[in-house]
Amino acid sequence: MSKGCAIVTGASRGIGAEIAFELAKSGFDIIVNYNNSKSQALSILEKIKQNGGNGSVFQCNVANRSNVDKMTEFALRTYGKIDVLVNNAGIAQQKLFTDITPDDWSQMLNVNLGGVFNCCQSVLPSMIHYKYGRIINISSVWGTEGASCEVHYSAVKAGIIGLSKALAKEVAPSGITVNVIAPGCIMTDMLTHDFDESTIKELAEETPVGRIGTPSDVARAAAFFASDFAGFITGQVLGVDGGFK
Ligand code: NAI
Repeated sequence: MSKGCAIVTGASRGIGAEIAFELAKSGFDIIVNYNNSKSQALSILEKIKQNGGNGSVFQCNVANRSNVDKMTEFALRTYGKIDVLVNNAGIAQQKLFTDITPDDWSQMLNVNLGGVFNCCQSVLPSMIHYKYGRIINISSVWGTEGASCEVHYSAVKAGIIGLSKALAKEVAPSGITVNVIAPGCIMTDMLTHDFDESTIKELAEETPVGRIGTPSDVARAAAFFASDFAGFITGQVLGVDGGFK
């Protein structure tokens, strides 16, 4: 039997794809959100279905509010309510602070923090109506510690933590929890795009458990926050970072 509907943003690859897969294993119907990669999203859905799960794909740019509202309407029309929202979609960029352009800044803000704002505000009326919801926001260890040459990324990832802690207090009386996962270095396209092989090796050595994390390490933490075990946990930031910070 279905446990309800879970929207996972940016789920066509990397951490989001693994969260979608893990939540489907837990029994949720998944909205596999993608922005550009329809074929990748469809293959994630296929993998979910082959494993006995269920769901749909939906194209939406999380930075665009009317797109996000269409995704919410689709989820409500198809599954009746939205039980879980995982705000995973994100972009990264490496630049000296002095080289960050106003456009770089706006894009970072609009996608990584604006996307969380849009998706939370869009799904909340339904969650409040049903007095149930689990919101899981993906920040970063850089959001708690700060990273050189990623000031704009660190700033918006810290913003996700502030948003989540405040929203957690506001919606707790409506039966909704809001928690944050702050991953360390996780092996995805984002990491390999930003760092060469020797830097990734150094990052693994700097990680006390001695390895780079996997998308599955993060997905299991998300499944915990979405589960019945986490009903009394809200406004928290869980580092999934191998002890990095
Ligand atoms: P990724 O680059 O493989 O995946 C990001 C996903 O977000 C992609 O599917 C992309 O299409 C989607 N996306 C980007 N902009 C979007 C938009 N406007 N609308 C909808 N979808 C959009 O990266 P990864 O590593 O899987 O990242 C997932 C999340 O984890 C991100 O929020 C990232 O900041 C965070 N994170 C990743 C870490 C890592 O080491 N890989 C470390 C800490 C946090």
